[in-house]
Amino acid sequence: MSTGPSLSSSHKPATAPPPPADSTFTRDELDLLCYEARIRRPEREKLPELQRAEQLRHVIFGGQFSLALLEGLAQTADKIRVLSKNRSGRDFLIQLLHHKRAMLYFTQPSTRTFLSFMAACQILGITCNEVRDPTTSSETKGETRFDSLRMFSSYFDLIIIRSKLAKLAESCAYLMNDLESTGNRSVPIINAGSGADEHPTQALLDIYTLQRTFQFADRQTSTASPRFAELQHSYPQLTKGLTNKVYGFCGDIGRGRTVRSLASLLGNYEGVTLIFIAPHDPTLTLREDLRTRLVERGVQIVEVESFDDVVQGTPVIELLDALYMTRIQKEHNAPGDDEKFAAIDLSRYKLTPQLVARMKTYAPILHPFPRDQHFGEIPPEIDDDPRAMYFRQARNGMWIRSALLASIFGVDHQIDQFFNDEYRERHHDDDRIIT
Ligand code: CP
Repeated sequence: MSTGPSLSSSHKPATAPPPPADSTFTRDELDLLCYEARIRRPEREKLPELQRAEQLRHVIFGGQFSLALLEGLAQTADKIRVLSKNRSGRDFLIQLLHHKRAMLYFTQPSTRTFLSFMAACQILGITCNEVRDPTTSSETKGETRFDSLRMFSSYFDLIIIRSKLAKLAESCAYLMNDLESTGNRSVPIINAGSGADEHPTQALLDIYTLQRTFQFADRQTSTASPRFAELQHSYPQLTKGLTNKVYGFCGDIGRGRTVRSLASLLGNYEGVTLIFIAPHDPTLTLREDLRTRLVERGVQIVEVESFDDVVQGTPVIELLDALYMTRIQKEHNAPGDDEKFAAIDLSRYKLTPQLVARMKTYAPILHPFPRDQHFGEIPPEIDDDPRAMYFRQARNGMWIRSALLASIFGVDHQIDQFFNDEYRERHHDDDRIIT
């Protein structure tokens, strides 16, 4: 067991690659060059363009979500979850947005994000269409992506984009804003995963899962749990909620877009410490832009190479209140990376039942999935552990994405009203789940 850094320090990794916005554009990214100056601005300068009044217009990166917005979305998601259990609730939800159409432009593979967005649309009555294979679109005839996307906006009311291009969704948001400012038709853009850059709606479901877990409600009855009192006996410092907790991120931190978005969102919560457990390699370790952003926001960050590194006298694995595992994202490998990674002991970034046995008894294990069956960062033996949260986490994606769509189209207040005025009166049993 090595003695690692203290909680207040961060040991500097080898020189990290520049953030995606500063990368030399690949041939495939040339399309984006017309938005280069706007893309290169600091994130805080971009925020006003991505909303209308207090309302979200486009969803592009995790930094757009305030604490109040996260809480509001979680409350709406809880209500949609409860309403969906009952015929009258489902009938109410499905008529809310039956006049809307969504385009799912997913040219990079996806299972969870695609299907949960589609399910979320179906819950609210939104009609969906999709382009998943760009060879079936007129891009093969030389049409630019931006012409294609403008066409989508002619037929649909929302465009949800998954792309290997880091800044495509952001560029499309600017395209839509420019169209709007010249009196043309314009629709909201949602980033459903952009290269190795951001995956903000994954971060929403990760936060929602943590919010629900750290309510410490009883699983069967969803009421206040006697288990919490027991836990406090073993862990006197334990409190409900996401504040003042230690979050571990393990694996491919440098290229994990879900890590980047979730770390940004966790920066909203007081007193959090983020521990990044990754190989000492410039590709896999925390990138400088995210490190800077987190430090600027006063987030305590620690970077270690192993679960057994010691922080404040305790091995990291025993210190964590939650663990976020990730897979090594080989699809982003540059030439030479295979050989470079073969020389690293990556087995240290796999969870084992022995490691799980050392974790706090309440600490949830999350993973955005897919997990890599060949690498085995989370072996299936762990799936039955009550702390294994990843399947529930994926289902939460459907509820929180429904809440996000309701918010973008401004029907979240109708959901509140229906729930409070009519539904709560008649379904006392189900109310317990949201307390
Ligand atoms: N977590 C996630 O984005 O999964 P998919 O790639 O299957 O959408």
